[in-house]
Amino acid sequence: MTGIKIDGKEIAQHVKDRVKKAVEELKAQNINPCLATVLVGENPASAAYVRTKHKACEEVGIITKDHKLASNITQTELNETIDNLNKDTSVHGILVQLPLPDQLNEFTTTSKISPLKDVDGLTPYNVGLLAMKKAALVACTPLGVMEMFDYHNINLQGKNVVIINRSNLVGKPIYHLLLERNATVITCHSKTKNLEELCRLADIIITAVGDRTKFTLTPDMIKEGAIVIDVAISRNEEKLVGDTDFDQIIQKASFATPVPGGVGPLTVAMLLKNTITAASLNIQLGQ
Ligand code: GUN
Repeated sequence: MTGIKIDGKEIAQHVKDRVKKAVEELKAQNINPCLATVLVGENPASAAYVRTKHKACEEVGIITKDHKLASNITQTELNETIDNLNKDTSVHGILVQLPLPDQLNEFTTTSKISPLKDVDGLTPYNVGLLAMKKAALVACTPLGVMEMFDYHNINLQGKNVVIINRSNLVGKPIYHLLLERNATVITCHSKTKNLEELCRLADIIITAVGDRTKFTLTPDMIKEGAIVIDVAISRNEEKLVGDTDFDQIIQKASFATPVPGGVGPLTVAMLLKNTITAASLNIQLGQ
């Protein structure tokens, strides 16, 4: 069989159209949704991601504030920047681009962000709400993956899902979102023993390893008609690649995402959506 390509750009455009309308409604109430980004150091990939996020904000009318900090700043200095953004009532969402330089601690940093402005869903408060099915702000990539399922009316109830990733930004939040939809979810990682066997049993595989020297999902590892969501992105001889080769996997899968043009555009679109959610939360709570 040849499956259906899940076109991330097309789905992201639908999300952006909805966000654009929400921005107009907020502006009519004199609220100008604003996202502040914090980029520490000069990692070119991180800088490029932040630029993409700013451009997307601009497209839908969200204001951005760009904080670029030197690679050698201290944790105290970074905390001060976040405190100031927490207090700034014109800022609705705060995103600290990860990874951070070695002298800075990711948990300390993201925990400092006000949960009401936490557009990455990384604060302990929002992670706790997610685990209890009460989250308003959830990490963008997992939300993007759920948007893909919903766009294609993929029913998750009772489906066996294998996630190959256990990070705070991807694997763990996706686990909770899928569980809420009554899927049976297995989270795999570098120490999982029978990964290929588990993949072959899965109705849906969500893979986010991002290193082809460690892992490639090949067609022999999936069952006929499986759904494959490739969250990974890495460079292979200057080409952007995921954990699988789309042209091959689509011969056996019922749905699959390409890289690039799959999950990536949706991650950005969901950041815009989260910024609007954060703006609404801030208004409701009179901040
Ligand atoms: N680095 C890679 N992906 C992300 C993301 O979704 N959010 C943040 N803050 N940093 C990232």
